[in-house]
Amino acid sequence: MDRREFLKNSAVLSAATVLAPGALAAEGKKTAAEAPATEEAAAKKLIASAPMLQNYAATSMGVAFAVSDMANGYVLLSEREDMEGARKVKCGGYRVTDMNDKVQQIRLTGLKPATRYYYRIGADSISYEGGYKMKITGNEEDPRTYSFVTAGKGAEGHFCVINDTHARFDTFDMLTAKIAALAPSCVVWNGDTCNCEEQIEGLMRNFLAPPIQHADYASEIPYLFAPGNHDSRGMANRHIERVWMWRQSEERSSRDWDLGRNFAVRMGDIALIGLDTAEDKLDTNPLFAGLFNSGPYREAQVAWLADALKRKEIATAPFLVAFCHIPLFDDDPTHNPGDVAPADKDPQYSADYAYWQRTCAQLWTPLLEKAKCQLVITAHMHTYRYDAPTKDRRWAQLVGGGPRWQDTERFPTVIEGRVEVTGRGKKGRKLHITVHNISTGEIQEEFQFNAR
Ligand SMILES: [Fe+2]
Ligand SMILES: [Fe+2]
Repeated sequence: MDRREFLKNSAVLSAATVLAPGALAAEGKKTAAEAPATEEAAAKKLIASAPMLQNYAATSMGVAFAVSDMANGYVLLSEREDMEGARKVKCGGYRVTDMNDKVQQIRLTGLKPATRYYYRIGADSISYEGGYKMKITGNEEDPRTYSFVTAGKGAEGHFCVINDTHARFDTFDMLTAKIAALAPSCVVWNGDTCNCEEQIEGLMRNFLAPPIQHADYASEIPYLFAPGNHDSRGMANRHIERVWMWRQSEERSSRDWDLGRNFAVRMGDIALIGLDTAEDKLDTNPLFAGLFNSGPYREAQVAWLADALKRKEIATAPFLVAFCHIPLFDDDPTHNPGDVAPADKDPQYSADYAYWQRTCAQLWTPLLEKAKCQLVITAHMHTYRYDAPTKDRRWAQLVGGGPRWQDTERFPTVIEGRVEVTGRGKKGRKLHITVHNISTGEIQEEFQFNAR
């Protein structure tokens, strides 16, 4: 069975064994609340989602899954498909485990780069009545053995990008179907995963248990996250790390301890850089009541970026691609550049929020230019666009499409990047970009970039 076939079949298996919230209701069947008690007990599995691979990296991997009750989750990890010699890694960190009744997060560390690992997920159900009164009351393991390949120079240089999904699951279903068919090494989710989330259950639905056919969309293809402006909105998003964990702290210096979303990952011949443009309104905008802190965050990422670009595995990659949610360039003079103090209002602009991020462009793009970054992939505008490089701006910009598959003008996109080897050395390598139009199912545009 080839990998694509495997993923397809796995999806069917997963859909049958994992109860995604809303899935039954969508099919017109009885939900758990309406079902008789015995049926409810049978249907209520402790493990309530497929695992999601978070924060693709060379030597670590995050695994997250939803649970329906108090649980202590774990991952069994092996380099062998038969799981021989598997090691058990529990949720949480040192001191105590992360026993809870919502989301289990397991950090796998000390991994080998560009290596396939096999894993299974499990959870002990816990009865907790107080400080000294706790016991394991049962155990559940997902019967399926999953696998993933870590990043690194030896990994296949092949990524996909999605953006502005805004919790529209009909479109998300189509995006994940396309990604399953393309089977990339990783996917960058380039922000605006939702509109606003007040409850953790909303985040769990968006990331861990989406009501889609490929409910295991991230169980074997690891994801990278470049947050969008909407990913900061709502009380649950203020602690989005409860569902999508921070990146490993050893990836950055202690100065940058709080920059847990930025990534610099080598994948084959490509270096992937993740930046966070943060909100599309100024911190001084009265709408935000002084509760946002995007300005200092953007500035702090300058030193991180400068260091990341110097790292050997990043500096030596033939292709450098950066990802962030809000565009770093726009030549339309009516488009708000996101730096109109204090409240983003100016009659010369068509909207009271950033269409592009001039501050981030001024802070970050000199470093990206110097490093000969070929391409910046952004989002936010809900309209696909390509900005070819010019004499003054040597990097190209791709802006991913919108959230509605029914909108043929502002169609959603999967942007695919793959290294093609046609000869020896750097000259024999091209970064081939294919923009898939999800409304039509056709290829919208293709581009090719030379090595740095
Ligand atoms: Fe958006
Ligand atoms: Fe946005």
